[in-house]
Amino acid sequence: MAPSDVITVPRIAGMKAKGEKITCLTAYDWLTAGLLDSAGIDIILVGDSGAMVFAGHETTLPVTMEQMLYHTTAVARGVRRGLVIADMPFLSYQVSADRALENAGRFLKEGGAAAVKLEGGEPVADTIRRIVSAGIPVMGHLGLTPQSIRAFGNYRVRGEAQDEAGAIRKDARILEQAGVFAVVLEKIPAGLAAEITESLSIPTIGIGAGPHCDGQVIVTPDMLGLFESFRPKFVRRYAELAETIRSAASRFADDVKNGRFPSDEESFR
Ligand code: KIV
Repeated sequence: MAPSDVITVPRIAGMKAKGEKITCLTAYDWLTAGLLDSAGIDIILVGDSGAMVFAGHETTLPVTMEQMLYHTTAVARGVRRGLVIADMPFLSYQVSADRALENAGRFLKEGGAAAVKLEGGEPVADTIRRIVSAGIPVMGHLGLTPQSIRAFGNYRVRGEAQDEAGAIRKDARILEQAGVFAVVLEKIPAGLAAEITESLSIPTIGIGAGPHCDGQVIVTPDMLGLFESFRPKFVRRYAELAETIRSAASRFADDVKNGRFPSDEESFR
């Protein structure tokens, strides 16, 4: 891979200026990360959504620094071209700016990520400044921020009410001034996302935020149809892998039970 092909933080920023849409998918393991990377996905996000879709928790809250580091090292080993961003888990950056900087640094130093992502607006702006000033690129995350689900109480669309929309707009400006290189906008009205995208010089990456963002992200198991019970309006399924896997497993079981696997050709003499 020529160095000029590798996706860097400045290149992501430059894509907005050129009007080139940015693609982002999540990964939690080496194998999937490599497949997404070879498909040309620009950003591979080691999302804390892994707490739910990888580990089976009900929320993203339980995942730890050590678990996120483990996922990040695996993903980083699989990616040659894309920008690997690690999600900072709940309470890894809220306690103090010093602790946040130390934890963010671990994702680059030990995990092999190129950047980190964290959730929230004004309350985390000073922390973002501190991390960025150490040379660690930060991506923001506004709108529906799943680490605050216990405070929100539900996963409804954010920013439908005027005051909530105003707060998201204000937080987007604050994050840009604090130095984030991009911001995820999750589950907000398309019009609000368009307005924020237009007003910022940094790229917006939408999930459930309509078509006018500078890029789009989906949780990979959702778009692959692996997560059958969860089918939100904003996810387009590009495959039905749950059915493919179940059918393969059941054909394997059938072959074994009926003595059709392994065959002579699949055995050593
Ligand atoms: O954890 C995650 O996968 C995310 C995306 C939904 C943006 O934060």
